[in-house]
Amino acid sequence: MIKLAVFGAGRIGYVHALNAASHPSVKLEYLVDPMPSGHLNELAEKTGARVVDADTVFADLTIQGVVIASSTDTHADLILKSVAAGKAMFCEKPISLNFALVSEVADAVERAGTPCMLGFQRRYDPNFRLVRERIANGTAGKLEQIVMHTRDPSPPPVEYVKRSGGMFRDQAIHDFDMARYLLGEEIKTVYAVGGCLIDPAIGAAGDIDTAMITLVSQSGRFVQMNNCRRAPFGYDQRLEALCEKEALYVENRHRDSVTIASASGFTVAPPMNYFIERFAEAYRLEMEAFVDMLEKGQVPLAGMRDGLEAQRLAEAAMVSMESGQPVRLDSEWKPD
Ligand SMILES: NC(=O)c1ccc[n+]([C@@H]2O[C@H](COP(=O)([O-])OP(=O)(O)OC[C@H]3O[C@@H](n4cnc5c(N)ncnc54)[C@H](O)[C@@H]3O)[C@@H](O)[C@H]2O)c1
Repeated sequence: MIKLAVFGAGRIGYVHALNAASHPSVKLEYLVDPMPSGHLNELAEKTGARVVDADTVFADLTIQGVVIASSTDTHADLILKSVAAGKAMFCEKPISLNFALVSEVADAVERAGTPCMLGFQRRYDPNFRLVRERIANGTAGKLEQIVMHTRDPSPPPVEYVKRSGGMFRDQAIHDFDMARYLLGEEIKTVYAVGGCLIDPAIGAAGDIDTAMITLVSQSGRFVQMNNCRRAPFGYDQRLEALCEKEALYVENRHRDSVTIASASGFTVAPPMNYFIERFAEAYRLEMEAFVDMLEKGQVPLAGMRDGLEAQRLAEAAMVSMESGQPVRLDSEWKPD
């Protein structure tokens, strides 16, 4: 059995802990979360894991891997401690809100050679994965344009916004990652516009709630990202990849797939409610990939370098939005 520990028992830590505990090769030994709550106790009961402090995890030589699903501002420290303790990691995005620290941490992980996967779960979603496969194996022909829509069902609480690092680092980072994943190359230009059209409190907290971002890849292919903190019908998460021989569409997944037709028209169910539901399968497959990394040395679909590069794009989008100018990138680009 592979023994794991999960840091953070919040929204996403809860999902990862349940997935780890239900994996046949895993014993979820520990949960770490400094905030006592009914939620944490319930999770401990459901998974059979013991609630301990971080030092207990790092001192336990039988723990092979840690899942870092705690608040973003704890990731860098926990990653460095995991490297020092020789524990493989599955870390949620983003690595840190401080880009210099992201680079430092990525270098430390690579220098030590500690296995690390990053929580870009869309790469594990069977639909996005199929799109990537048809592009990568040449079936779809040359990829020319990608259009992505990511819109939350409703704006997050302002307290969340204040700690999130902003919409580009918090939400759009998944789209930046998907662009790189599908293109199979780096981005050379980022041009972003954004504003606060929905919730003035988000603007007062220094963030935006609506943005459009254009990316140009190294070889000159185009990506259009449409990101928003609200969609009137629920969670909107779609992608279109226009290729030479095929156009590939990932549509919203609905709560059921029944179309009800009557004299008043045709109706379908609303989309699945937000990411926990929409990506439930991807989160499960992601945990399987983490176990495969530990058991078989299988390389995960997203690693530390992907976290760094997606964040470089988020930082460039911030600079572009603030300056009103496109930002041209190279592998050394970093925000001032
Ligand atoms: N990949 C995805 O789809 C996805 C989805 C949601 C969140 N996330 C990321 O996951 C992380 C957590 O997000 P969330 O929405 O679950 O947040 P959350 O606020 O619901 O939960 C965070 C938990 O971490 C705990 N925590 C704080 N400091 C800790 C520490 N030092 N050690 C252990 N636990 C600690 C908090 O008490 C809290 O229970 C964030 O980085 C977020 O960006 C990723």
